[in-house]
Order: sequence, then C-alpha cells, then structure tokens
Amino acid sequence: MLKILEFQVAQELLKTIKKLLMSLQINSLEDYHKAYQASVENPSKFWDEIAEKFFWRKKWTQTLDYNWNVPETKWFLGGKLNITENCLDRHLASKGDQTAIIWEPNDPKDPAQHITYKQLHSKVCAFANVLRNNGVVKGDRVCVYMPMVAELAVAVLACARIGAIHSVVFAGFSSRALSARINDAECKVLLTSDGGFRGDKVTPLKDIADEALKTCPSIKKSIVFQRTQQAIAWMPGRDVWWHEELTKVDDHCPAEVMDSEDMLFILYTSGSTGKPKGMVHTCGGYMVYAAYSFLNVFQYKPNDIYWCTADIGWITGHSYIVYGPLATGATTVMFEGVPSYPDYGRFWEVCEKHKVTQFYTAPTAIRALAKHPLSFVTNHDLSSLKILGTVGEPINEEAWHWYDDNIGKNKCPIVDTWWQTETGGMMISSLAGVTQDKPTFATLPLPGIQPVLLNADGTEITEIKAEGILAIKQPWPSLARTIYGDNERYKNVYFSAYPNYYFPGDGALRDAHGNYRITGRVDDVVIVSGHNLGTAPIENAINEHEGIVESAVVGFPHDIKGNALYAYVITYDGVIQTDELITEIRNLVAATIGAIAKPDKIQFVKGLPKTRSGKIMRRILRKIASGDTGDLGDTSTLLNPEIIDALQKGFDKN
Ligand code: PRX
Repeated sequence: MLKILEFQVAQELLKTIKKLLMSLQINSLEDYHKAYQASVENPSKFWDEIAEKFFWRKKWTQTLDYNWNVPETKWFLGGKLNITENCLDRHLASKGDQTAIIWEPNDPKDPAQHITYKQLHSKVCAFANVLRNNGVVKGDRVCVYMPMVAELAVAVLACARIGAIHSVVFAGFSSRALSARINDAECKVLLTSDGGFRGDKVTPLKDIADEALKTCPSIKKSIVFQRTQQAIAWMPGRDVWWHEELTKVDDHCPAEVMDSEDMLFILYTSGSTGKPKGMVHTCGGYMVYAAYSFLNVFQYKPNDIYWCTADIGWITGHSYIVYGPLATGATTVMFEGVPSYPDYGRFWEVCEKHKVTQFYTAPTAIRALAKHPLSFVTNHDLSSLKILGTVGEPINEEAWHWYDDNIGKNKCPIVDTWWQTETGGMMISSLAGVTQDKPTFATLPLPGIQPVLLNADGTEITEIKAEGILAIKQPWPSLARTIYGDNERYKNVYFSAYPNYYFPGDGALRDAHGNYRITGRVDDVVIVSGHNLGTAPIENAINEHEGIVESAVVGFPHDIKGNALYAYVITYDGVIQTDELITEIRNLVAATIGAIAKPDKIQFVKGLPKTRSGKIMRRILRKIASGDTGDLGDTSTLLNPEIIDALQKGFDKN
C-alpha cells in the first residue's frame, strides 16, 4: 500500500517538473510593473498562479485569510505539502546529478565538497531516519547549534522531511543564550558538533552546549557531529555520535505530509525587551515566497553558481542559502570560514575558485574588506560575477561604490535587499538588471509587497517624496505567523502601534520615483555588523554584575560595523571603576548573550537622563555616544537635566 502511494507521489512529482519554476522569473521592467500591478489588484489570483508551480500533495482551497487585529494570517489554506519534496525530490529526475551545495571549508587547503541533488536527497533522508530513531516525531522542536558544515543544511532539511520544527541557534551564541532558546521552544533534541572552525579560532561548541543543557530538562538526546576531533565530555544515554547513528539507518524516508500552515521552523531574533522572540514560519507560504523572491531578485539562471556568505543561524541563511535556492533547483555555496582567513582575499578566492555568478553579503563585510589593500581583490579573477547583493543594514555610499568599482567592475547590478527575520523573504530590493539599482537605496518593493510611509500619528503619507515610518499594508506569504508561545507579544510589537499595518521597526525615505531608502531602526534594536541586537537584554546582562546598579546601552556610528554599542553604567558606591571592571562587564555580556553583543565603549556615570515617568531618554544618550556635542533637543521633560553636563564631559572618545 505504502509502495503504491509512493509510486503515485512520484508520478505527480514528474508532472510538476513541467511546471517550470523559471517561468516565474520577471525578465523586463515592463513585466515587473505588470506583475506588481497584478499583485496589488488581486493578491489571491497573483499568488495562486505562483503557488501552482510548486509540488503540493493536495491543493489549497482558499488562498488567503487574515485578520491583523487578532493578529492571524493564513496562506494556501487546506494545502498539503512537504517543502523537502520541492527542494529535493522534484529535481531528481531533471537535475539529480547537478550540484546542489558546494561546501567550502574554513581552511583553503582542505577540499571543497560538491553535493549533488541526488546525494543531498540521500543524506537528508538518512539523517531524517536518524532523527526518527532518536524519538523525534512530527511537531517536535529540534534545536540546531552547529558550525557551517554541510550537515547543518542536511539537519534542517531532515527536520522538515519528518515534520519536526527546527530552531537553529547561531553558533556564536553563549550557553545561556542557547539554553534560553532551547527552553522557550521546549526542544526535545539538540544537534551540535564537537567544535567549529572559524578562521584561526576553534569554538568548543559541545562544551558550550553541555553547559546549556544543565538547565534544559526538555532535551532527551544530543546528536553530535564530529568536525574538529577535539576532546569533549560525553553523557552516555543522552549523547550519540552523528556518524554512528547513520550506520543504523537507510536513506529511504517518505516525506511527512504537512499542512500549509504547519510550523516549518522557529528562529529567534532580538526584541526591544529582554526575551528573544521565536519567530514562527510555516510551510506553504514561506516556501512560495522564498523561492519566488530568490528567483527574481538574483535572476538565477541555469548553471549559475550562487553564493550567500551568511550563516544558516540567521534568516538570510535559512531563506537564501537553503530553502530559496534549493526550491528553485539552484547551486548554492556554503562557506564555513570568515572573510579574513587566511587573508583578506578569501571571499574573492572562493569566487574565483567556484566561478561564483551571484555574490550576496553584508555591508559590514564590505567595509571591513575595503580597508585592506586592493591587491587582495585584484589577485583574483572575478570575471564570473554577474550580480552582487547586500543585506542586513543600510549600505553607505562609499562602501556601495567600492563594491561596485572593485568587485563588480561597474558591470554587476547591486541588489540592496531590505527584509527581516519576521518577513521571511526580501521585501524591498531591485531585481538584478531588471529594475534600476541606486546607491544606498533598497529601491522598489517586490510584487506582492505594499510598503507605505506613516506619520507618527499613523496616517499614511501620500506625497511620493517623503520620509517617515515604514509599514506594510496587506499580508505576503512568508510573514512570520506569530512569536512562539506569545501571540500577544506578536500583536504588541508588530500590529499595535499602527493598526492594520505590519510595523517592522524601521524608518525610511522615498524619492520622487518611489525608491525606498532605509534610514535605520526606530526602536531599541541596534544593528551591529548586520546583527540585530536588542539593547534590553544587554542591559540585563550588565545589571547582573554585583557592582552595578543600572545601565543603558545605545548604538553609535562605527566605520566598519555600521553601529557599535555604547554602555552607560552606574556602579554602587564604593565600587572602584577600573579597567578590570570594564573587562568583567564585557565578559559578562559575552557569556550571557555572545561576543557579538560586547559594548565597544563603556562610560561610568552617576545617573541616566530620565523623564518624570522614569523612562530613560535614549535619544540624548545616542547623541552623546555619537560624539555630537551640539544641541540635544528638547530636554524640558527631564527629571534630572543637570546630569547632561557630566555625561558629555565623560564621553568616551576612544
Ligand atoms: O533594520 C533593518 C535591517 O535589519 C533589520 C532586520 O534584521 P534581521 O531580522 O536580523 O534580518 C537581517 C537579514 C534580513 C531590519 O529591520 N536591514 C536589513 N536589511 C537591510 C536593513 N537595513 C537597511 N538596508 C537593508 N538592505
């Protein structure tokens, strides 16, 4: 019976191969305008036609149902599918021997791996069986805390294969951050590794994970991938080796049939209050939008070699290393290392070696590399490159031109893609070579995305050329459906400030042609080196120090990181404000959150500027931290205006 069913599924799959995904590609400016118009006039019809190109076990009965007052959004209602059948099985007949993933190791002396679609399918099915053998069933949460090895991609796909919900935690996070995320989602199994290579550093991932698991009662098994072969502790009964488990299974694993709105994954992002937010993405809409946006923004063509330098621990890696490229049958590069190891030419060496055609990275990496001699670039043949991209933060004009001149040789369109963990896919971006790019502007919305600018009172700004608060009208398929276990917070953060709009927390300006430029966050989140960091959890970490009464953390402009963190810290009487104390504070932040959250500057202060209601006036702290000695604006509502002078005098210029 099972065999007959599998045969029928295989037949259906063969039929969908003829529904060419490539036909979803917009090839001209005129087509873009037509598609955009169609998506606004009749969103359901527009997305129906796109979703039909994918492989569904059962077609949906309703395209969209939503009510942003609840808030609730559902796409492709009643549809059944498994995303891995779209990312793997459907390609087997037509491109089974094509490379799906090129894995480039940290050390250039080690060999790269070329994993074909057939091989990836086999690896995913085998590991899915390992998960099943270790007690994972549909709906269970699996935490993934791994370095950028190919098995990380295999792991997330294996979860999706059997309907388990993956929660990838970036391998730079500390044990406390890891344990908070595991506990929030009540994960049953942890996938980790003995250690990870990043540049000349070896991160003891298993040690960090072991520490985290001391406070994670929900974890029953820890499956350990062997990467560095370093010595590790072992807990029999809980810990099992990845490679040993693989010897107990075969690579036959029928896909679990999922509802369109079943959870696919949880991914944590920082909020402006202490606890990280577990953004929930679901199967159907996420798949459709990740693939559609990938195909159009990057204009992927057969035989292209696409490389996104992000880590799979972030949404960029989920959507544009794994799901988007694989759902469209692309070849995607995964890089284990860092741009500076063994030297500052590493990115360009990899581009040359694998003949990369699309290259997608973060402005912070571009700024860091631009500081070094151009010979690191010119030593490499970059003629394969056709399209460049950026993501994660605003790109400044200088970095944009350096990228355009030296990497793209003024021949490659640059897509500046604005989006978020919450949006699941790219929202505002040029379509490479199809719509016009413009330095520092993300430019135009993708079809299906309706951005608006709002005044502070929530009214829509009707003039085209304007500046305001960015908001999105109407749902799109890959919008995160909720915050795991906390729909009330989801409502408060994204749908309450401006009812009937999705509020991303960014400000923007719009030029006379309707191009958007993102001006930065309008809340207490700071983007440091492209990483989204809430200031509240950092303050909480600092305040845990026994010598500290209170702290306030803000961002300030930084040459390479875009923004860096500046902490104002009040100590208890009698505490001596030494360099050791500064180091202790930094280490505490690293231990609680991760090294990426360490403040660059710490200033000891006697008080913080507060309003009468006790709210810290961060606007003033930001101005001082950025070295702005001019007018601090309206300070009349301050309870303690006398504090300002001391704050300015103590400003840390270093
Ligand atoms: O402030 C925006 C900034 O990054 C935030 C989202 O961070 P995260 O959820 O970590 O996702 C990053 C990768 C998609 C946004 O609210 N941001 C992202 N892309 C851009 C950007 N700011 C300006 N320009 C961009 N292209």
